[in-house]
Amino acid sequence: MDVNAPADPTSTTVADDPMRLSQRGQLVELIGSDGDAIHFSTVWLRDMCSCPECVHPSGQRLIDPAGFTDELVVVEARVEAGVATVRWGPDGHTSQYVLAELEAVAPPHTGGARQPWAAELAGHIPAARHDAIAGDDSELHRWLSGVEHRGVGVLHGVPIADGEVARVAELFGHVRVTNYGRYFDVRTQIDPANLANTSLALGPHTDNPYRDPVPTMQLLHCLSSSATGGENVVVDGFRVAEQIRADDPAGFAALADCDVTFTYSDAHTHLAATRPILELDRTGQVRAVCFNSRSMLPPVMATDTQALWYSAYRHFARLLADPGFQARIVLTPGDLFIVDNRRVLHGRTGYSAGDGNRHLQGCYADIDGLRSKIAVLARTL
Ligand code: FE2
Repeated sequence: MDVNAPADPTSTTVADDPMRLSQRGQLVELIGSDGDAIHFSTVWLRDMCSCPECVHPSGQRLIDPAGFTDELVVVEARVEAGVATVRWGPDGHTSQYVLAELEAVAPPHTGGARQPWAAELAGHIPAARHDAIAGDDSELHRWLSGVEHRGVGVLHGVPIADGEVARVAELFGHVRVTNYGRYFDVRTQIDPANLANTSLALGPHTDNPYRDPVPTMQLLHCLSSSATGGENVVVDGFRVAEQIRADDPAGFAALADCDVTFTYSDAHTHLAATRPILELDRTGQVRAVCFNSRSMLPPVMATDTQALWYSAYRHFARLLADPGFQARIVLTPGDLFIVDNRRVLHGRTGYSAGDGNRHLQGCYADIDGLRSKIAVLARTL
């Protein structure tokens, strides 16, 4: 997206609505409901016209793309009550667009949905009560939308029962069954295969980077927590990545360019997956963060890249440990938190296994199911 395109002298904006539409060179700029700018080409917007000349009542499209000219231009754009009326030149065709619908499909667009945060999110993490979201679609929609925007959410009053965590996942989607089962216990074990099942502190990390594809949502449900310590922390990996991009552009590029391999092995399983720490989309926006030093193999890369990569990797680790980026979550029995596992890293402080009990159950699910539920609920709200 070229946000620096020179303004076209023929641009016209009539803004009697918070959402605005105007032409900037060969781009059209939409100021969305959240104030973010979204850009798309004039030809794309013209192709989105759904007037009876352009779309048959069956929903099939009548537009012949061969008819678009290089001279296509927005002559006038008026916005009223969230609907833009655009008059096109040179042919004088008129199109109408519901801007909220345009905002939802404008490519590539993940913008408005992701609201970066740092420590200030503590106390403002999207939260709800379990009985409210289970019985009220508008409350479920509100909570799930918050989870999508922030990448994290908290639920209170979840029944303290075995496997309830998986039933929460089924309020919005499907459980991702893995070699750990439909759901799994997180508590101190003797001779554990995973450090999660010790009382050790765990730095902020994403889960299961050794799977391909990686689970995109994780839920953790607290069944008991009488031990001292064991507080959870969450960190917005997108926010940290942008800090690294600003501080050290070359190091940021190294984290995005170099693949590393993550593994997990026990008596019945051997998993391995290779991916970069930062995965970018074609516009350069961070699409996924993968950070888990416990399961990362020694990185294989050119010697002259190692120092740069490790400098950025260490910087990443230091920012994750910086309280300025961390939001704390204190789980009491019946609380649950959910994270977007490709964005928000989670960790915990160490706890004393000798003076109490700490028992969590977790499960995995996927964000496409969560987004689907939000969209389907929105049809009737
Ligand atoms: Fe974890």
